[in-house]
Amino acid sequence: MDIGNNERRMLRAMLSDPSKEWALEELLSETGWDDQVHVAGSGAALEKVGLVSVTEHRGAVVSLGEEGERASKDGLLEARIWDWLVSQKPEDRTMSALSSALERHEAGPGVGLLKALGVTLEAGTLVTDDESHISSTIENRSAFINYLSKSPKEQSELDEEMVSHFSSRKGLIVLEERVSRNWVLTKKGKSTNVSKLEDVEMIGELTPELLQSEAWRDAEFKPFDVNAPTPTPSGGRPHPMIALIEMIRSIFLEMGFSEIEGDFIQSAGWNMDALFIPQSHPARTMQDTFYLSEPAQVDVDDKYLNLWSKVHEHGHDTGSKGWGLDFDKEESKKSLLRTHTTVNTVRHIAENPDEPCRVFGIGRVFRQESIDRTHLPEFYQIEGIIHEPEANLPMLISTLRTFYSKMGFPDVRVRPAYFPYTEPSVEVDVLWKGEWLELGGSGIFRPEVTEPLGTEWPVCAWGLGLERLAMLILELDDIRELYQPDLERLGRMPIL
Ligand code: PHE
Repeated sequence: MDIGNNERRMLRAMLSDPSKEWALEELLSETGWDDQVHVAGSGAALEKVGLVSVTEHRGAVVSLGEEGERASKDGLLEARIWDWLVSQKPEDRTMSALSSALERHEAGPGVGLLKALGVTLEAGTLVTDDESHISSTIENRSAFINYLSKSPKEQSELDEEMVSHFSSRKGLIVLEERVSRNWVLTKKGKSTNVSKLEDVEMIGELTPELLQSEAWRDAEFKPFDVNAPTPTPSGGRPHPMIALIEMIRSIFLEMGFSEIEGDFIQSAGWNMDALFIPQSHPARTMQDTFYLSEPAQVDVDDKYLNLWSKVHEHGHDTGSKGWGLDFDKEESKKSLLRTHTTVNTVRHIAENPDEPCRVFGIGRVFRQESIDRTHLPEFYQIEGIIHEPEANLPMLISTLRTFYSKMGFPDVRVRPAYFPYTEPSVEVDVLWKGEWLELGGSGIFRPEVTEPLGTEWPVCAWGLGLERLAMLILELDDIRELYQPDLERLGRMPIL
C-alpha cells in the first residue's frame, strides 16, 4: 500500500476499534505519539486516499474567570450571604447588619443576587419563604464552580442553564471557542488488511553516502506532502524591510551595478543647486526641508559654487539660459537632511567624472511631511544612475523594467513628467491588481547638471520609493505598519 509509516501507524491504531470515532487524545495514546502534528498530518494523508474521514466540531471550552477563581476559594457571594442570613435570627437580618458583615462593595450586588433568588426586603429586613429552594440553587451553583475549578470543561458536557446564568455575571466563567477534530475509518479504511500495514523501510532524506552507494536505485522514498498542516514556527527573522532591501540590493548587483552610499547631512548646494533646482523653488523652504542649526553650514568646494552660480544665473556654456536669477552662495552652504538620494549619485559623478559607471544606492531621506496612511517624514529611496557615453532613454526604461519584473511586477509603464534636473523626465508606474501605481521618477540629467560635474556623457538617473513597493509586496494599506514594533504582525508578514 502506497502510504508512509506514520499513516500505517495511525491506521493500525484505528483498526484496533474500527468503528470508533477517535478524538485527538485517544489517537495520541493509541499511537504513542506525543505531538498532535503527526495525527493531523497522517489523518489528512489518509483522508486524501479515502481511508479515513475527518470531521470538525466547533464548541466552546469553559473555564473559570478571575472572579470564578476567587469564588472557588472564598465561596460565591450569594453563598456567603446566605450562610450569614440563615445564621441570624429573622429580626436581625437587616440591611445594615448585612453591610457590616460583608465587604462594602459586595452588599449591593449581593442583595441583587438574593432578590433574584426570591428574597424580599420588608421594612429593612430580608425575608424569604422558600429557604430550601434557595439553599439548593446556591448549592448547585457552588458545585458548578467547584467542578470547573478542577479543570476547564467542554461546554457541551455542562448544564446549559448554569452556563447561561454564569455567562451573564461578570468575570466568573470564560468561554473559548475551539475547533476539535475527530477521525473515523471509512468503509475502505475498515477493510484494510492489518497485516499489510507493517512499517516499510522508506528514505526520507538523501545523503551523499546514499547517492554514492547506489542503494537509492531500489529504495522506497517517503512521499512529501507540502500541504500537510504544521505548526507555524515563531523564530527570529529579519525585519521585512531589511529583507526587502537585501532583495533589491542583490537584484541590482546581479544586473551589474555597484553600490554607493552617502551621508544624511548634506549642503543645499549638493542636494539642490547641483541639480539645477532654482534657489526660489518651493521644495527648498523650511516647510518641506529639514535645515539644521548645528552645523548650520557645511563647506562646499568653491569650484562648484562658482560653476553652479554661473549655470543658475545665465546657463554658463551649457547652451541654457539658466534661471536668470541671482545665485546666493551662502544659501548653497546651508546644511540640511538630504531630501533625496539623488545627491549621492551626482556627488559620485563629480568624484569620478571620467569613469563610466552603473551605480545604485538604497538610502533614507527626510522631508517635512505629516504622518498619515501614505506619508512618513523619513523614508527610503532606491537611487541609481548609468553614466556612460552611450547611455540613453530606452536603456533607462529597460533597466527599470528589468528591475521591477525581477521584483515581481512585470508590467511597467512610463509617463512624461517634470523634474528641474532631467530632460526628458519620466514617471514610472507599475501595474498592481489592475491599477497603475506611481513608484518613482527618472530621466536623463540635463547639461546644466552634468557640465559642472565635469562630464559630457549622458546620465540615466532614477529615484524610486521603497516603502510604496514594500506596501504592495507585503499587502499593507497603511505605510505606518512597516515601522510599528508589533512583533506578531511583523511575524505574519511574508518571508521574502
Ligand atoms: N529625486 C527624485 C525624487 O525624489 C526622483 C528622481 C531621481 C527623478 C532621478 C529623476 C531622476 O522624487
